[in-house]
Formats: sequence, structure tokens, C-alpha cells
Amino acid sequence: MASRVDALYFFLLALTAFFSLLIAGLIVTYAVKYRRRTPDSIGARIHGGLLLEIAWTVIPLMITMVIFVWGASVFFAMSRPPDETLNVYVVGKQWMWKFQHLDGQREINQLHVPVGRAVKLIMTSEDVIHDVFVPAFRVKADVIPGRYTNIWFEPTKPGTYHLFCAEYCGTRHSGMIGEVIVMQPNEYQAWLSGGTGEGSLASAGEKLFADLACNTCHRVDVQGRGPVLQNLFGKTVSLQSGETVVADEAYIRESILTPAAKVVAGFQPIMPTFQGLVSEEGLLELIEYVKSLHTEPPVEAGRQTTSGPAPSEATPARPDAR
Ligand code: CUA
Repeated sequence: MASRVDALYFFLLALTAFFSLLIAGLIVTYAVKYRRRTPDSIGARIHGGLLLEIAWTVIPLMITMVIFVWGASVFFAMSRPPDETLNVYVVGKQWMWKFQHLDGQREINQLHVPVGRAVKLIMTSEDVIHDVFVPAFRVKADVIPGRYTNIWFEPTKPGTYHLFCAEYCGTRHSGMIGEVIVMQPNEYQAWLSGGTGEGSLASAGEKLFADLACNTCHRVDVQGRGPVLQNLFGKTVSLQSGETVVADEAYIRESILTPAAKVVAGFQPIMPTFQGLVSEEGLLELIEYVKSLHTEPPVEAGRQTTSGPAPSEATPARPDAR
């Protein structure tokens, strides 16, 4: 993304320089050319100038529209990650960055990624607002408690790049720095396999799911007191209120911490809150576990999600409906 951001930035810089020089130049030129030559000279009175007024309206309009369209296209490219990304969870806290890879690797203030692959960071904070900023990649986004924000980038050159916290977050804000280490794919694989062997994030989530006794109500195959979670992620869910919601990370997080907020149609609001019982990392593990509950190939599920499944298909089926 860096070259696209830079191209826009240098265009704006060149445009600004051009008009600054033009205006300053004209001021000086006209000040000299039309200076008062005799003490009693009086300026000419000029009324109207339609052509001039149209010109100074239309030309800036066209220039600003170019900036708008160009800027919007870069913005959309930055805010829409490709379908296939390497996902890494990020938790900010005073004053460190915690990274969790799906394979189970955890890192602090260091993020290892392979070159040439789109990487998506799914980020949250466990205390105050922080902000991930990797200047070399031209990406920057707030990291907000109680919410997931995303950024994505595709490293093109191996190396080590600075990562900053770009939101004042307390005493040691300036020390909340880290590095993104971009490696060749084979080195990255070697790094991954040299991990701690704790198992994947999803398997940690499965264990937590059982430890918290979630599985007594959310059965994998048959309808329990809670909705079936199989194939839930990415689907549209019908709620008791008549509204619908897409089952994304934020929805699953909210359903764990504030279960009464969005009750699925056909169910009672009997689930207790898990606020304070599950850490931010635990939430990520549970989310990743729910994501992993696919009976069909993930590609197939992704295709269905983008084409927008019918609400009936997404509503957890009742036993009689099966
Ligand atoms: Cu975290 Cu500044």
C-alpha cells in the first residue's frame, strides 16, 4: 500500500507547492506591475467577470474531485482486506503489544510475518485506547477496548520494521514500541514450527469452552438450550427483536460478555454473563474456536457468506425443522 499512499501524498504536495508558488508569484508580480505611480492615481473600478468566476469555481472543483476519488480508492483498498489473509490477533495493554498467531504462537512487542502474504491484524485493547502504527507499511489504526478493529498489509521486503503506539496511553506510552519482522516464507515456517507447542488458538478455545461449561448449552450437533454454533461464523443471525446481525468477531464477543444484548430468535435470555471471567486472550481463543466450527470446507463457507445467505438458512435450526 505504501506506494499508493505515497503517490497520493506527493500529488497533494506538488499541487500545494504549485498553487503556493503561483499565488505568491502573482502577488509579487501584480504588486510591482500595478503599483501606485503618482500620489493622486485611483484604481479602476471593475464590475463582474462571469468567465473568471466560472473558471475559479470549476477548476478547483475538478481538482478536489480528483483528490476525493483518488483518496477514496486508496482508503477503500486499505480498509478492505483481501479474502485470503493470514490473521493475527493483537491485544494492546499498558504498555505492550501482545500478538497471537492462529497456530498458537504468542509474541510480545514482536510480530513475525512472511513476505508476500496479506496479513490481517484483528486488534483490541484490555485497558485504554492504543494505536498500532507501522510507518513503513503506511498503516495505522486505533486499538479500542471492547471492540475489534482491523488493519491489513502485505509485506513486500524482508526486514525489521518499527511498530509504534500512536495514541497517548499513559506514562510509558513512548516505550510502547515493537517491531514487525518480515521473513522469507521458509524461514517463517521454521519460526512457526519452533513455537511453544501449546496447540492452536482454536484448540485452546475448545478447551476453554469446555472449562467454562459452555458446551452444556451450546451443543455441537444437537439443539441445546443455546443456539448451535456449528457453521455460525459469518452467517446472518435472526434475533428475538426481529433484527438480524452478522455473526462476526464483535457479535461473538458481545454474546459472551453481554448475552442479553442480542438474543437469537427462539431462545430465552438465560445465558449468564462471562464479563470478568474471560480475559481478552480467552475471548480471542473462544472466537477462534467458533470460527473453526465448520463442517463444510472454509472456502465454501466464505463464498456463501459473501453471497449473503438467506436468514432462514442462518437461523439455528430447531429440532423440528431438521
Ligand atoms: Cu499505547 Cu500509547
